[in-house]
Amino acid sequence: MPMVIDGKAISTQMKEELKQKVADRKAQGIEITLAVIQVGKDPASSVYVGNKKKACEYIGIRSLAFELEEETTEQELLSLIGQLNERADVNGILVQLPLPAHIDEDKVIAAIHPAKDVDGFHPQSVGTLCIGQPGFVSCTPAGIIQLLKRSGIEIAGKECVVIGRSNIVGKPMALLLLRENGTVTVAHSRTRDLKEVTKRADILIVAVGKPKMITKEYVKQGAVVIDVGIHREEGNRLCGDVDYEDVASVCHAITPVPGGVGPMTIAMLMHNCVESVKLQE
Ligand code: GUN
Repeated sequence: MPMVIDGKAISTQMKEELKQKVADRKAQGIEITLAVIQVGKDPASSVYVGNKKKACEYIGIRSLAFELEEETTEQELLSLIGQLNERADVNGILVQLPLPAHIDEDKVIAAIHPAKDVDGFHPQSVGTLCIGQPGFVSCTPAGIIQLLKRSGIEIAGKECVVIGRSNIVGKPMALLLLRENGTVTVAHSRTRDLKEVTKRADILIVAVGKPKMITKEYVKQGAVVIDVGIHREEGNRLCGDVDYEDVASVCHAITPVPGGVGPMTIAMLMHNCVESVKLQE
């Protein structure tokens, strides 16, 4: 049986550490505040936003919720972000994605002040990650690095294959693995002989967005497999991009769904909120 990488336990450990840091800041008279903006009522977004608010409450961060109508104009949203950028009592600004089709996501992300960009999506945050300077890092890939490190998995010198090239996961994941001295390959929908590529991986990060696509034929014996996907199967069970039972029979370590990468994303958002105070000082 492989080692199961317990994201729930690791994220709880991180949240306990952050709770202490927040308490230390409070003792210095500093209250950390996250502004969370949701436009419309997408049910999945509402669940994510609810979980973020709960995490804030748990570790002692104040959260300000802005629940805007689906019909909110781009200008209205940009204006709210402008106000929050100016507010000294707001440390982090998060706009839940996706946004309604009439709003330009890139424009909204670029409007957030880089010192408050706790999602790490602003072009400046992506740039600082790329050249190894201080700045916010996208929460899901940053959480995966924590999962690997806290599970005692060495990255330096390893063959790392990332499947997926999104701005939120695939690209920052590749940059972070490179920063940790991994040898990194990014595979995607146009990659030829995907199995040949993924079978080279000592560490395989899967963010393809297709339920149970990755079977043991894609995985080298003894690899570490990280599953970023989350899908609802028939019968309401959750599953990832990896066929867990099948891959578990060949790999050394694997993240479950749920309870793997998911909880880490929120823990890293809380980490970024705590760090935002330093970046703003
Ligand atoms: N939608 C899906 N994932 C995310 C995320 O990490 N941050 C935001 N803001 N929206 C998302």
